[in-house]
Amino acid sequence: MTLRHFINSTDLSADDLRKVLQLSTISIESLGRPLAGLGAALIFEKPSNRTRHSMEMAVVQLGGHPVYTRGEEVGLDVRETVEDITKVMGGYHAILAARVFDHNIVRRMANMSTVPVVNMLSDRQHPLQGLADVLTMQQQLGDLVGKTVCYVGDYNNVARSLAQTSALLGMHVRLGCPNGYQAEDGELEALQKLGAASVEQFDNIHEAVMGSHAVHTDVWTSMGQESETDKREKAFASFQVVSSVMKDAAADAIFMHCLPAHRGMEVSAEVIDGSQSKVIEQAHNRMHAARGLLAFLMGVNA
Ligand code: CP
Ligand code: NVA
Repeated sequence: MTLRHFINSTDLSADDLRKVLQLSTISIESLGRPLAGLGAALIFEKPSNRTRHSMEMAVVQLGGHPVYTRGEEVGLDVRETVEDITKVMGGYHAILAARVFDHNIVRRMANMSTVPVVNMLSDRQHPLQGLADVLTMQQQLGDLVGKTVCYVGDYNNVARSLAQTSALLGMHVRLGCPNGYQAEDGELEALQKLGAASVEQFDNIHEAVMGSHAVHTDVWTSMGQESETDKREKAFASFQVVSSVMKDAAADAIFMHCLPAHRGMEVSAEVIDGSQSKVIEQAHNRMHAARGLLAFLMGVNA
């Protein structure tokens, strides 16, 4: 079995991604039990609902045993070095996964690890979320090649993983982000190279969502940025997804949000609780996508 990690959404090629999506949709029984008798360490430096529960259950469904560990308990670079923790845990577990503040921590884990390392969210990436996002769009919209995904708000960890994963599947990618919170030029070119049908960025929410089949957003202030809350609320004030924004998207467009959401901030209650919203399906797909990804990393073939 080749050692593979999932630190960035781009760690999967387009072919790999299609395999993972296939593994995410087939029956649990047909995956076998690749983690039978094996453990998965799940280390969290930040709070979580979806990621913890979906990963724990995915491990169980593959026959394994998840061990939830709080970041301060192992003390990454505090109690001992990330490298020592990684080497020790690799002797107990078949999978190491971590949710961290600093993306470099998961990179260092992957550099050192003899077992697959999974990024469960860092300041730069949320690759497991990106998988569930495209799985949900595929189920709702059919084949995604040539379909249009739009993300509005902060070009953050969730946005970057969504854009990269969507690009790998040949989607048109539209971004609506205020100045100061946009993707850098190099990132737009990289999305094009990954396979996006087109990539466009706007600083106006109505222009951005025009004709899109799926409209995504996320919180304006991510975990770890709480001191910037006031500044961000001002910068994103005109980037709330409300009904008039959804009207500018395609007629049957879906609304998506990784959750947790703040009604009255990045999205109105009318939109997130309305008929176009697929956020609960999206949240449930976190488990199916996690199971597909873990099976792929354990060498299961689609
Ligand atoms: N979407 C997501 O990652 O949710 P949690 O922070 O609850 O895990
Ligand atoms: N961008 C958010 C996502 C939470 C799931 C954060 O990093 O806090």
